[in-house]
Amino acid sequence: MTRHQALLPPAGIDQLREALTAAGYTSAGIVARIGAPARAAAARGAGGAALRAASGGDPLGTLIRLFICGQTEPEEAVAAALAPLPVADALAAGLVEPHLGGLRQAVDLEAYGEDWWVVSDVTAAARPGQPLRPDHVLGVGGASTTLAGATIRRPVSSALDLGTGCGVQALHLSTHAARVTATDVSPRALRFAATTAALSGQRWELVAGDLARPVAGRRFDLVVSNPPFVVGEGPVRYAYRDSGRAGDAVAAELAAAAPDLLTEGGVMQYLANWAHVTGEDWGDRVAGWVAGTGLDAWVIQREVADPVTYVNMWLSDANEPGERAAAWLDWFDANKIEAVGFGLVTLRRSGHDDPVVRIEDLRQHVQPSLGEQVAAWFDRQDWLRRVDREQMLAARYRAADGLRLQQEATRSPEGWVVDRQVLAMPDGLRWVEEVDQLTLALVGGCDGRVRLREQLAVLAAAHGVPEAELAEAAIPVVAHLVERGILVPCER
Ligand SMILES: C[S@@+](CC[C@H](N)C(=O)[O-])C[C@H]1O[C@@H](n2cnc3c(N)ncnc32)[C@H](O)[C@@H]1O
Repeated sequence: MTRHQALLPPAGIDQLREALTAAGYTSAGIVARIGAPARAAAARGAGGAALRAASGGDPLGTLIRLFICGQTEPEEAVAAALAPLPVADALAAGLVEPHLGGLRQAVDLEAYGEDWWVVSDVTAAARPGQPLRPDHVLGVGGASTTLAGATIRRPVSSALDLGTGCGVQALHLSTHAARVTATDVSPRALRFAATTAALSGQRWELVAGDLARPVAGRRFDLVVSNPPFVVGEGPVRYAYRDSGRAGDAVAAELAAAAPDLLTEGGVMQYLANWAHVTGEDWGDRVAGWVAGTGLDAWVIQREVADPVTYVNMWLSDANEPGERAAAWLDWFDANKIEAVGFGLVTLRRSGHDDPVVRIEDLRQHVQPSLGEQVAAWFDRQDWLRRVDREQMLAARYRAADGLRLQQEATRSPEGWVVDRQVLAMPDGLRWVEEVDQLTLALVGGCDGRVRLREQLAVLAAAHGVPEAELAEAAIPVVAHLVERGILVPCER
């Protein structure tokens, strides 16, 4: 299936896997050797503790020094660590390179998950002052793990990773998709992804091309993408971050491509940046991308950066000279971009005429692994769509486990005066919802035993409000609380 050549032929891949396995160069083996704190410190670029624990010249120590600490090691030690893969083959494949009389890594070889290895280019941090090559293949980073954590992991027949790079998303997809297709515009990335797949014992269909073009006419149950989403002028300086589209157009283009990429019920999840343009609501801008697609959409803004922070971060990420900031910032000014939002877009083809579109700023609330939350959110949308007004009134609800009430009050001569009451979810997206007294009483009575209609009758009598009027007001409130998981319908 893999149409793109890995860095080594199949026999060489087997030899390399044998060497890594025999040495114990696996996620667990590395932690067992150097300890979790040293492993985490090395990932942050502080390899001192890892180096100390990996001395001795044995194969595992050599592999850790070479590929985790970025050291130059004696050729004999490297040859022993890679055996049975001949060191000449490793050199020819570009896995290692001569340096200061020994050998050093020419690629990153990361032990990942239980029994996977991910091949990517050596990080910018490991080659300070050295500009990256334009087709630099990024390793597993913060954005990769954000998307992997936010992906709905339910069994599917077919999955697509758009812009696969080192292949990290495709690895995760292989745990729950019968067939995995991965695309990239960069031939180098596809060679690296092919190497990741082969070393990790996976078979993916790898196809070259721009965004959705190489899979035009095909549909998938799940599409994920960590695309080159960086907001800038447009030209591609680095394939991993620049899409060749100006501004945030790549994210709009992915949304527009989604209806034709998804099977019925299929889901597309991607990371995106969006411009906050002066005088324009960023949410309206993002909603505009999905308008007319007929897809359900849930967009979560997780971070917002000012232009200076944003530009400097992406320049230093690529070891680019700081002087480039001026032109980039001029472009931001010319386009009235005052900030850049970062977040997750989830689109679902649900086949309804009235798609649900929610664009939310959840900066304070988001926890790292969102996949289960996203799946549950769409399940709740399905429930809300299934029931009509009468069924909502006939249903019983329970308050979410661990739901808390928080009050803010001002002290007055008469005692405490409550200014604000919020219901706060204890985990997940940690929604906080400001509520009035009636809603609070309603939620307080939601124990899963009483029908909403009966609860409302009691509340109407207690507050001297006509029952029909109260029901009219309560239904959208209950729907909103169900959407957020604060109230859980109890099926009986
Ligand atoms: C940010 S990297 C993501 C890599 C990997 N999927 C991950 O999650 O870490 C973006 C990838 O998209 C690829 N890419 C850039 N422009 C593209 C395009 N127009 N079409 C398809 N892939 C593209 C890059 O080569 C790069 O591998």
